[in-house]
Amino acid sequence: MTSAPIKPAVAGDIPDRHELGRLYRSRLSKGRATLGELFGGHVEVASEGARVHTSDGRSFLNCGGYGVFLTGARHPTVVRRVAEQLHTHPVATRIFLEPQAALAADALVSVVPEGLSRVHFASSGAEAVETAIKLARTRGRTRLVATDGGYHGKTMGALSLTGKSLFQDPFRPLLPGTSHVPYGDAEALRAVLAQIPGEGCVFVEPVQGEAGVVIPPIGYLRQVSDLCREFGALFVLDEIQTGLGRLGTWWGADAEGVVPDVLLVGKGLSGGVVPVSAVVATPEAFTAFDQDPYLHTSTFSGAPLAMAAARGAIEAIQEDDLVTRSKVLGEQILTEVRSVVTRHFGDAVREVRGRGLMLGIEFAEPGPAGDLLIELIQQGVIANHSLNSHLVLRLTPPAVLQPADVDFLCEAMDRACRAQAARYTPTSGGV
Ligand SMILES: Cc1ncc(COP(=O)(O)O)c(C=O)c1O
Repeated sequence: MTSAPIKPAVAGDIPDRHELGRLYRSRLSKGRATLGELFGGHVEVASEGARVHTSDGRSFLNCGGYGVFLTGARHPTVVRRVAEQLHTHPVATRIFLEPQAALAADALVSVVPEGLSRVHFASSGAEAVETAIKLARTRGRTRLVATDGGYHGKTMGALSLTGKSLFQDPFRPLLPGTSHVPYGDAEALRAVLAQIPGEGCVFVEPVQGEAGVVIPPIGYLRQVSDLCREFGALFVLDEIQTGLGRLGTWWGADAEGVVPDVLLVGKGLSGGVVPVSAVVATPEAFTAFDQDPYLHTSTFSGAPLAMAAARGAIEAIQEDDLVTRSKVLGEQILTEVRSVVTRHFGDAVREVRGRGLMLGIEFAEPGPAGDLLIELIQQGVIANHSLNSHLVLRLTPPAVLQPADVDFLCEAMDRACRAQAARYTPTSGGV
């Protein structure tokens, strides 16, 4: 697990772990400080490729990052573009025309499904969702429909769509006119859309990430698309987590050949270097923003530094054929992880599933997913919990994994499962 420590850029600035804990507690969040301790108290200071390095000289395989690190950390192509931009013109006046935004938009349009040709850049996924909600309103679609367990972020509009009352309840009232339907159930969607012809806007993920890697029945996206057409609803496909190759295809949309009215992109678009998200729309859906560029703005939208990262990320994915790598690596990891986990946990594990490099291990009851996350860290692997499901441990490895990394992951998973299964007492039945 250990390798030569990378020297952080500002070594002198880094407080020791106790001082850092104190700063977190007094300046950021007590709860976040406690979580950091629960996850081992490690202090991350550097990263490259699939590895994250901590201040004590340890190195971890990064299969977490909530889906951001598709290109790994500090991919050379992304870093080169961002570094060039940093030293020339990182933030624009927003009065003159600026090439990086136009080139990044063009690069993105060249890889999205045909028909989507207008781009609005933002910084976070939630901002992209807010933008889509506003686009929907400009088209008279004020009734939002999302899915149970779906995750779209935590700003007020996005939170209204995020199907988890735990996150919503402290902030009610949320956006009016919003409803949720069971994910994967086209008939339930039909029933809702039939009540609001011409007024609906449907937000859906091709695979639900934070709900715990929930894969819908084959044909579901096509049905959603057809229902949106039938009832005059706007179709927003949230590919913030699934897009850019994470699922082993450029987009989850590709698996069923659908073209939404609006496609949301985030996470991996940053190249893991500068936060950036995007809303890619048909010219029709984008009409209002085409006419009035001040209708929806944000100071740092399309900042050249972020645009350089987006261009770099798309180039890196193309140059290294990361979409194919995601598919191939995903199939291999799924097979091996499934075998390891079921061998150790038996009936206590409900399902090990995945598409591309988004994998979920679903347990029969809450508890083991969190415990396994902690145990995996001890074995040198960072994974994700699932914000909308306590049952599922999620792996979102980068597509730059080498064979030795895959071996490392599977061996670490084996050790972690063995240790965890030995300690685990199910509340019902036995392992
Ligand atoms: C599908 C999806 N949409 C939206 C978001 C929100 O993105 P952000 O956390 O960048 O606001 C996420 C984040 O996990 C996501 O997975």
